[in-house]
Amino acid sequence: MRNIILFESMAHKFILLNESEPGEEDGIRSNQYLVVHGEDAVLLDPGGFGVMPRVLAEMLRHVPPERLKAIMLSHQDPDIVGGISTWMEMTSSPIYVSKIWTRFLPHYGIRDMSRFVAVPDAGMNCVLARDFELQLVPAHFLHSEGQINVYDPVARILFTGDIGAAMMPSDRDEPYVHDFSAHLPFIEGFHRRYMCSNRAARVWADAVSVMDIQMLAPQHGPVYVGQAVQDFVSWFRELECGVDLITGNGEFRK
Ligand SMILES: [Fe+2]
Ligand SMILES: [Fe+2]
Repeated sequence: MRNIILFESMAHKFILLNESEPGEEDGIRSNQYLVVHGEDAVLLDPGGFGVMPRVLAEMLRHVPPERLKAIMLSHQDPDIVGGISTWMEMTSSPIYVSKIWTRFLPHYGIRDMSRFVAVPDAGMNCVLARDFELQLVPAHFLHSEGQINVYDPVARILFTGDIGAAMMPSDRDEPYVHDFSAHLPFIEGFHRRYMCSNRAARVWADAVSVMDIQMLAPQHGPVYVGQAVQDFVSWFRELECGVDLITGNGEFRK
């Protein structure tokens, strides 16, 4: 899946820029998103090292690198940050990541941390250009201890990082989830093992339930639309996961 416009108005677009394919990265397929407003743009979770050339090629269809106002990292994992040192050479934008991960990022080969913005635990509002704002929404322990979501109030799309992520079979590449119950087999095992606890899920579900969200856009797998948004949030709110299921040393309840 490439270059799928999830939202478009006169001046604003929210684009599923690229979904990596097997071969571009040896790991899991991942989504990269671009939010475009006028001549400016923001890149969400640019991806691992192997996918960087394709993401850059897709981005150049929309904006040149100098118009990138920010790169936002939902958390510290290699499928998000692995290509960041090359992105830093190609662009000059600030890079937003939770304050708890900034001290670990030099291990990705980054020498200059001055472009990183440490996002506080409570999240923050980012004014990127005139009439162009994105909200960084806390999603701690889902799955990372310092996880952030990104809400676009124009598109009314919440980028959720690994929340809602699906492990799809290699022959399935539909862009949208319409029927949540049919989608559940592709997300359940991942969320039970990778998400940290029901308490964290519940805090997040309560926070996003009062937001005006048309789509949930995860870092892996298809984008939730319509009723599937609420169905996912309701399911996740009740899910036992992570430490809820640990019963012994290396053992988890099914
Ligand atoms: Fe992750
Ligand atoms: Fe991920």
